[in-house]
Amino acid sequence: MNAPAKTEEFAVAQAKIPDGVYAETVLAVEHYTDRLFRFRMTRPAGFRFRSGEFAMIGLMVGDKPVYRAYSIASPAWDEELEFFSIKVPDGPLTSHLQMIKPGDTVLMRKKPTGTLVLDALTPAKRLYMFSTGTGIAPFASLIRDPETYEKFDEVILTHTCRDVAELKYGFDLVHEINNHEFLHEIVGDKLKHYPTVTREDFKYRGRITDLIENGKLFTDLGVPALDPAVDRGMICGSTAMLKDTKDLLEKAGLVEGSNNKPGEFVIERAFVG
Ligand code: A2P
Repeated sequence: MNAPAKTEEFAVAQAKIPDGVYAETVLAVEHYTDRLFRFRMTRPAGFRFRSGEFAMIGLMVGDKPVYRAYSIASPAWDEELEFFSIKVPDGPLTSHLQMIKPGDTVLMRKKPTGTLVLDALTPAKRLYMFSTGTGIAPFASLIRDPETYEKFDEVILTHTCRDVAELKYGFDLVHEINNHEFLHEIVGDKLKHYPTVTREDFKYRGRITDLIENGKLFTDLGVPALDPAVDRGMICGSTAMLKDTKDLLEKAGLVEGSNNKPGEFVIERAFVG
């Protein structure tokens, strides 16, 4: 595929920003693998969201805006916005988005939404965040939000990827929290990170669904099996992963919740394209 003439493309984008959307400036881009990258951009002054929500992110492609849903990976208190993205070679948005550089313009629709929010869960002791691939993004927001630790005594972030290189974003997040001026005190030892891979050798191996089913997740963490009296769950991954994980939580007796009717677990598809 021909790479678009970048400077021209973004000059055009600046000139034709659609009405009623934010046009923000890219501040930093980090590529992890040939499939994954993250970027940070300016946050519009009036833009409010709850940690865990997603927004529609876009670029001008030719003279048309192309949008996809993206979980906001930064917490609600952050002055900037962060996103973690897959690179789909022919993806209508990500084939372009993966080429952004600091100074470029990214579009964002004004209204965030989503179900992976603390308000959709009833109070309990322990919160599990089950993620695969870029499904870690909403949890990147929630694990950096002090409210998560006000509501739960223990927060377990599971992240399963094909190989170890794809886990790096998660490791960086935990490192950042442990070295953050105020977060590390709030988080203390409440956050447990459980990274696993399915296609390479590593300390922890296997699909999270298998590890729940055979109990290894709980033995490794030193916690009892899932119990609706103390455990809550949030799930973000592919459609198949959502279904399989949801089935296991329901089997353990947890009931799905929503913004209108808080419950014991919530789910959201990790968006691609
Ligand atoms: P696997 O390697 O066995 O397919 P992807 O990169 O394709 O989005 O996958 C991310 C991770 O999610 C991979 O480790 C993959 O394992 C795992 N995965 C895929 N489908 C499911 C599923 N139905 N339940 C649990 N994990 C899954």
